[in-house]
Amino acid sequence: MALVHMRDLLVHAHRNGYAVPAFDLVSLDFLEAIVRSAEACQAPVILSLAESHFEYFDFELAMAATEAAARRTPMPVAIHLDHGASLDSAVKAIRLGCNGVMVDASTLPFDENVVATRAVVEMAHGCGVPVEGELGYVAGVEGEDAEKHPGEVIFTSPEEAETYVDRTGVDFLAVSIGTVHGRMRGEPQLDFDRLAQINERLGIPLVIHGGTGLSDAHFRALIERGVAKINYYTALADAAGARIRENVATAQGGGYTALVKGIQQPMQAEMERCTRLWGAAGRADALLADCEPWTPVDHLIVYNLQQGADAAALMAEGRRVLGAIPGVREVFTGTSIQDGASYRYCWNVRFCHPAVVDSYREHPDHLAFADRLFRPAAGDRLSIDFRAS
Ligand code: 13P
Repeated sequence: MALVHMRDLLVHAHRNGYAVPAFDLVSLDFLEAIVRSAEACQAPVILSLAESHFEYFDFELAMAATEAAARRTPMPVAIHLDHGASLDSAVKAIRLGCNGVMVDASTLPFDENVVATRAVVEMAHGCGVPVEGELGYVAGVEGEDAEKHPGEVIFTSPEEAETYVDRTGVDFLAVSIGTVHGRMRGEPQLDFDRLAQINERLGIPLVIHGGTGLSDAHFRALIERGVAKINYYTALADAAGARIRENVATAQGGGYTALVKGIQQPMQAEMERCTRLWGAAGRADALLADCEPWTPVDHLIVYNLQQGADAAALMAEGRRVLGAIPGVREVFTGTSIQDGASYRYCWNVRFCHPAVVDSYREHPDHLAFADRLFRPAAGDRLSIDFRAS
């Protein structure tokens, strides 16, 4: 299993002059093609799920499959919430297994963007999860013609970027230097001097959104100037769409499986092309030697209750309250199946990362539950944190 800390992936790429592909996925076909492309290239990859795509799939179900794929592949991978719209989105994404989150408050005025981003950073860092912020505005919509959504592209100011990173504490910055989301017509005009200045001032991994439509030379110039993560979606969706149209012509009334047959191949080919072009191919071994594995912690409490305490009510309230604390993946409550067991009850609270041991202990909802409900009702008990090994 090679789910790894996303900070380590991007810091390695930034230091060594390449970019990790962040391919957005909207179905199992995308997920399988992404993982296969990484394996074929012996490369790291970011499995990216964009909140703007949640109308196309059930995020919770997609995350279960994405996490299973991430834990099964030997390639170093991270799971990222792309374009998260709020603090709640980030909390939910981490609960479901994302180990990187983007907060996209780029449409807000600078000070409001700082406040919204800072709140996500405080929460996410308490969970060990790194955060990507965005400053400036990259217009367009993934999967559509960029001209349909002209928006107002706002270029990232190097001075503001420095203040933004200082005040928010983001780990990676998505910059606006002339790319747009979606299909582009004509030659994009990218401001490489601006990018170089941002890279010099910040020294943290930079992110490019709107990878579709850029030339090989563009990509090389971006990576030379500090871009360590490239978001890419529309070209993959178009490759799948082209295969579906071929199938429509040949399948002669076939159903769903006949129409989507073979769509992974052109997507995987495009992903492999990008992975090699961006310099990520062949990096897996070096990364695996250098990256923190992303492993959960089980916070286990075995306990007895005072006479008369309502065990079922206590456990139900605990599942509700503790399960909502950032970084908690699930709360298991149990009753011993042996009558004479030394401890009759247990909590097993699964944290996404060891950082949650501290943030959970100090979280006001945990303190209130422990002080007002649990400790007064509990008798003798044992509490131990176990890291998966
Ligand atoms: P494209 O769809 O233009 O490749 O952009 C993808 C993206 O930036 C996702 O965040």
